[in-house]
Amino acid sequence: MNAITIPKQGHVNETTQTDLSQIELNQTVGNIYADDAKMSIRNANIYYGDKQAIENISLDLAKNQVTALIGPSGCGKSTFLRSLNRMNDTIDICNITGQFILDGEDIYAKKLDPVLLRARVGMVFQKPNPFPKSIYENVAYGARIHGLTNNKAELDEIVETSLQKAGLFNEVKDRLNDPGTGLSGGQQQRLCIARTIAVSPEVILMDEPASALDPIATAIIEELIDELKEKYTIAIVTHSMQQAARVSQHTAYFHMGKLVEMGKTEDIFTRPSHKLTENYITGRFG
Ligand SMILES: Nc1ncnc2c1ncn2[C@@H]1O[C@H](COP(=O)(O)OP(=O)(O)O)[C@@H](O)[C@H]1O
Ligand SMILES: [Mg+2]
Repeated sequence: MNAITIPKQGHVNETTQTDLSQIELNQTVGNIYADDAKMSIRNANIYYGDKQAIENISLDLAKNQVTALIGPSGCGKSTFLRSLNRMNDTIDICNITGQFILDGEDIYAKKLDPVLLRARVGMVFQKPNPFPKSIYENVAYGARIHGLTNNKAELDEIVETSLQKAGLFNEVKDRLNDPGTGLSGGQQQRLCIARTIAVSPEVILMDEPASALDPIATAIIEELIDELKEKYTIAIVTHSMQQAARVSQHTAYFHMGKLVEMGKTEDIFTRPSHKLTENYITGRFG
């Protein structure tokens, strides 16, 4: 454990391209590399004040695939996920070191605007959080503030296609002006996904997106995730191993702030290499 508080921008690499081959790696078993990486994280350390929540984690997110982040409660999954679009910037005591590369670009570079980054790397939370606005406005909002368009016909088009991609359009097309908060939980979560999609992200981060939903709404979200990967790169935190097995191609097993093992989902669940992974997936923690 490192008790030193490291400044937020301490690792910033001012050049645009980062040579990943120059970076030394940690001891995770399995394979952290993707053939076609959309994001590459190297030697990530994340601290809340003196407490280290993430220790030297390196991994790739494969382009147009789903990567599941699993592990016991408190192991750092959400902390790590939030670092991928700089959501941790909003937590004062949180400090981050390491390289976080999106298409060759350091996302923590000073010149990079975190608001624009979060349009490229969108996030869907555990509890659906629609704005207290109409269904239409929930989806149009991001497109408008990011200046994608001010033209009503174009905005209508963005709202419709985003709702379609989120598998919600048919259920809400006759009541686009009704409040988003009036939808069922599962519909609200798809509305939040539509809102994320509306700003044309490249990566979508999901933090236990179905854990507040019933089994039917969960199944719809899982099916949707599988479709979304054709256009987007997805990282999903889940406490459900069945869900990880169903929706992901790659799985990363976190344990007490470390990345213990990473590999193809089928391998992780059928023949894990590390004892800790095996204990977790077979329901033994000791
Ligand atoms: N905002 C915060 N301030 C201080 N400590 C935090 C904060 N968020 C998370 N932590 C701590 O970081 C560790 C990892 O938490 P978290 O990332 O939420 O784990 P997980 O998502 O795997 O359950 C925990 O010990 C948690 O208490
Ligand atoms: Mg969490």
